[in-house]
Amino acid sequence: MNIILLGPPGAGKGTQASRLEQERGMVQLSTGDMLRAAVAARSPVGMQAKAVMDAGDLVSDEIVTGILSDRLDGEDVKRGFILDGYPRTTAQAQSLESLLALKGTSLDHVIELSVDEDALVERIIGRFSCASCGEGYHDIYKQPAVPNVCDVCQSENFRRRPDDNEETVRNRLSEYRAKTEPILPFYEAKGLVSRVDGMAPIVEVNAAIERILDGG
Ligand code: AP5
Repeated sequence: MNIILLGPPGAGKGTQASRLEQERGMVQLSTGDMLRAAVAARSPVGMQAKAVMDAGDLVSDEIVTGILSDRLDGEDVKRGFILDGYPRTTAQAQSLESLLALKGTSLDHVIELSVDEDALVERIIGRFSCASCGEGYHDIYKQPAVPNVCDVCQSENFRRRPDDNEETVRNRLSEYRAKTEPILPFYEAKGLVSRVDGMAPIVEVNAAIERILDGG
C-alpha cells in the first residue's frame, strides 16, 4: 500500500506517518526530514536548501524530486510507503506519477488531514523533539512523563526546528494554500482522495486513517 498524507504544516502528517510505520511496517518518506538531514550533513543540497527552509519557502522541485527519487530506489520502500510532505506543487505531483510508473508502482490513497488553521500555529510553536531518537513532544499536548527526560531513550537533549517560529509558520501556511492545495483536484480526478478530521485527538485520527487503509 502506497499513500500520500496531505495537509498544511502542523496538520499531523509526521505524527500519523510514524504511527503507521510502527503499526503497519510501512516506510515514512518525509522530504522535510530528508532535507533537514542534508542541512545537518552540510551537503551541497543542504547548503542550498537551508535558507529557503528557514524562511518557510519551498525548496526547488528539482532538488526535492531528486532526493525523493533516490530514496524510492530503497529496497525497504517495497513494503509500502507513506509520503509525508511530498508532493507540494503540481510539478511535483506530475513528477511523482512518472517516477512511480518507472518504478512499476502506484498510489493507493491520498489522505487529506483537514485542520483549523488557527490551531496550527499553536501546535507548531509548541513542538519539540528528542535530539537523540527523534521522539516528538509538545509543550502543552505531549510533555515527557519525567520533565526534560525522553520517554523513549531517556536522553536529556531536546531540540526545536529553526522554522518553527510564528512568522515562518505563517509563510509556510500561505505557501501551502497557494501551491499545495491546488494539487488536490489532480488526485480527486483519479478517485484517490479521502478526508480525515485532523482536529480530532491523535488516536482518533490514526483510527480514521486505518479504516481508510482497510477499505472501511
Ligand atoms: P516539513 O518537514 O514537511 O514540514 P511541514 O509540512 O511544514 O509539516 P510539519 O512537519 O511542520 O507538520 P506535520 O503535519 O508533520 O505535523 P506534526 O505531525 O509534526 O517541511 C519543512 C520545510 O522543508 C518546508 O517548509 C520546505 O521548505 C521544505 N520542504 C519539505 N518538503 C518539500 C517539498 N516537497 N517541496 C519543497 N520544499 C519542501 O504535528 C505538529 C504538532 O502537533 C506536534 O507537536 C504534534 O504532537 C501535534 N499534533 C499532531 N496531531 C495532533 C492532533 N490530532 N491533536 C493535537 N496535537 C497534534
